[in-house]
Amino acid sequence: MSKVTVVGAGNVGATCANVLAVNEVANEVVLIDIKEGFAEGKAMDIMQTAQLMGFDTVVKGVTNDYSQTANSDVVIITSGIPRKPGMTREELIGVNAGIVKSVTENCLKFSPNAILVIVANPMDPMAFLTYKTLGLPRNRVIGMGGALDSSRFKYFISQAIGCNANEVEGIVIGGHGDTTMIPLDRIATYKGMPITNFLSKEKIEEVVKSTMVGGATLTGLLGTSAWMAPGAAAASVAESIIKNQGKMITCAAYLDGEYGMKDIMIGVPVILGKNGIERIVELELNADEKAKLAASEAAVRKTNQVLYESGLIK
Ligand code: NAI
Ligand code: 2OP
Repeated sequence: MSKVTVVGAGNVGATCANVLAVNEVANEVVLIDIKEGFAEGKAMDIMQTAQLMGFDTVVKGVTNDYSQTANSDVVIITSGIPRKPGMTREELIGVNAGIVKSVTENCLKFSPNAILVIVANPMDPMAFLTYKTLGLPRNRVIGMGGALDSSRFKYFISQAIGCNANEVEGIVIGGHGDTTMIPLDRIATYKGMPITNFLSKEKIEEVVKSTMVGGATLTGLLGTSAWMAPGAAAASVAESIIKNQGKMITCAAYLDGEYGMKDIMIGVPVILGKNGIERIVELELNADEKAKLAASEAAVRKTNQVLYESGLIK
């Protein structure tokens, strides 16, 4: 029996629960929210698609009753306010840090062995806060951002080439922020061939830029931040863990010397399996990519500093 809890039954959380159910990632999915009846309603709506979609996963919704989340294998934290047009992810820290701290503590009480996947923004600092406050081994605290950013990168590459996105490979590392993420165009491929075989330098620069502001573009169009790809990306992280798939996915991981960084959570490729982060993959970066990663590191550390200054991390 496998069980996943999704905290926050809003746009991202409900979409994630839906993808987990449709793909039968776990036997049971518990959706929990603070808003009375909201998670129950979302879960009932999803369950009314079971016969239409043909899945057997049971999705249950609860209001603030953490006992129902007991013995989850994976817990996904989506509770927190989303950005509005013109806002950065970093501006959400004041409200979201308190929410993330309290819900992760509640979850751990009932699921002491769970692997935690943090989605709420600003995601890298929220994952860092979780790692620092819960005292879990680093393989069990994972930040979801790179899975989404890499998916957006592959989408924009496929649009530019005019090809099937499933035949594109691309990795985005660094922080999950408009200016901190680093789409690695040098190693992106279409059917194993460098994208430079298909796209001009100018076109590649456009693809990189569109990827970096991918979240902001959707926030402008939708009036709130996106949820389809974010929910599916969080579900893909949970799937690699629950099914022990060993997929390489970019996630915020706690670094202890890898990439020359210590005591930070930031996006790097990791192998995800039954223990959460099974291995951190160290890419050979060139000088330009190293400089971008150093700038990204500095920006993430600056936001982490807010957590120290507010006393949330001692
Ligand atoms: P939303 O507003 O639709 O849903 C958030 C839900 O959290 C609401 O239903 C709310 O009632 C619930 N909530 C608030 N406090 C809670 C608490 N203490 N306990 C349980 N539930 C609580 O927002 P949306 O669009 O689902 O976004 C959620 C978060 O995910 C935001 O912080 C957003 O910025 C972030 N996000 C992160 C992405 C990533 O790649 N890391 C991508 C997209 C969104
Ligand atoms: C996104 O990238 C805002 O993190 C959110 O869509």
